[in-house]
Amino acid sequence: MSRFYLTTPIYYVNDAPHVGSAYTTVNADALARWHRLAGDDVKFLTGTDEHGQKMADAAAKNGVSPKEWTDRTSERFRLAWDVLNISYDDFIRTTEPRHYETVQKFLSTIYDNGYIYKDVYKGLYCVSCEDYYTLEASDDGRCPIHHSVLTQMEEENWFFRLSAFQDRLLDYFEAHPGFVTPDTKYNEALSFIKGGLRDISITRTSISWGVPVPWDERHVFYVWYDALINYLSAIGYGRDDDEVEYWWPWSNHLIGKEILRFHTVWWPAMCMAAGLDPVHHVHVNGWLLIGGEKLGKTMAAEGAVKITDIEPIALSQEFGVDPLRYYLLRDTALGNDGEFSLEGIAARYNTDLANNLGNLVARVAAVVTSKCAGVGPAPRSDSSLREVADAVTADAARAWERFAPQRALEATWELIGATNAYLETHAPWKMEPGDALEAVMGDALEAIRLVAILISPAMPGVAEEIWRRLGLDASPSAVPFTTAVTWGQYPRGRHVTKGDSLFPRIQSEQ
Ligand code: MSP
Repeated sequence: MSRFYLTTPIYYVNDAPHVGSAYTTVNADALARWHRLAGDDVKFLTGTDEHGQKMADAAAKNGVSPKEWTDRTSERFRLAWDVLNISYDDFIRTTEPRHYETVQKFLSTIYDNGYIYKDVYKGLYCVSCEDYYTLEASDDGRCPIHHSVLTQMEEENWFFRLSAFQDRLLDYFEAHPGFVTPDTKYNEALSFIKGGLRDISITRTSISWGVPVPWDERHVFYVWYDALINYLSAIGYGRDDDEVEYWWPWSNHLIGKEILRFHTVWWPAMCMAAGLDPVHHVHVNGWLLIGGEKLGKTMAAEGAVKITDIEPIALSQEFGVDPLRYYLLRDTALGNDGEFSLEGIAARYNTDLANNLGNLVARVAAVVTSKCAGVGPAPRSDSSLREVADAVTADAARAWERFAPQRALEATWELIGATNAYLETHAPWKMEPGDALEAVMGDALEAIRLVAILISPAMPGVAEEIWRRLGLDASPSAVPFTTAVTWGQYPRGRHVTKGDSLFPRIQSEQ
């Protein structure tokens, strides 16, 4: 058994979650569920990033204190993730005492190690990104992501000596070619480091909403500096060394592509400065887009989309939790950008779920009910489906391991397709009851059993329901994957139930 510590970015609570934030979270959830299925000891962390200018502004705009605002909005994230069946083991908020304690210990260590000094910061700032820009990196004085005019800032700040880590980071990247995936993002981070690193400002005096700097009480830490450390707060850094030692070597961050530099340059350097190994692995996902632009709440505010069309809870009410999860996992490879649309969800729903998966389960249950007295027969060991099943389970497992849920599901649908084709060839609905019919149905039931296991990280609710309809015990998420996917384990004699349609078709006018 190995360990798997997986984190999502912690979400800004200036606004409620949208389907873009759900994209990262659902993918992380499916990966965490896969690792539990594979028998790993898993810790899956998500949470909310609650300090910074943006939050202070949002609270002021709504006439409440930052604390009240962040309490309220953080709860909306928790609620959305509960609705989407996100199996997080811990939910961290950066306003919690445990986080303050870790941040202050971690940064004091860096300070004591001589990597922090005082200087004056002068430059441009984007409040939406909570990030500094040089004039060259800006879009003529505007933010390249949010297109808003950047604020000119001048403050006395504490600085982190990032420049001291250039060679150590280059060595680290060279020694760990799998540190950042996909490769394109590894290369992007590497060329950023090769381009030269400037020291960075890590504290602010113009706002007070943040973690206080222990050695200078007029300052709070700049929000990114406290945020990154959440990954250590949740495993007890500064409080429980054994826990850090248990999880940190197995740590994986899933992040969006716009926060690559923070996680693959700053963060490893900070860890090095504190005398800690950097995170083990960072996987970078792309964006969900609408009309080629990064999907976000501002689109709704500007009237470009209806708010309910991008809200995860509203979407899950419209399409179902598991179909929404399936769409997010299957439509866009984790690493690429993908265009998001309601038509896209409906198309995946009708084709992959209703026509392929739903139809397979329904027709097998119908034949077993009408021709086998509702009792499932056993599969054959030499079924022609076995070869496909063996190849698909191996392929899907490899894909899950390399952070590729989209590929894992594509492979799973090859087994669904092969089983539907197998039924077309044998046409059991035309066969007389007897051994030949039972053999075909046993093979199909076994294939469906495997499909239920394979889809369980993506669609846990649907997987459970299929499992129940097959008359199987326990849960498809609770089996040990490697032994459970050996062909031939569907037991004869289980009661198979038909049930309602798993995925009633969506009509186009809906
Ligand atoms: N608070 C920081 C992260 C700190 S981690 C130490 C932050 N928050 S965020 O709320 O703006 O974004 C969180 C994550 O959501 C990012 O990984 C971002 O890429 C992801 N997404 C937000 N909109 C998205 C899309 N439209 N598509 C895909 N992911 C998107 O950054």
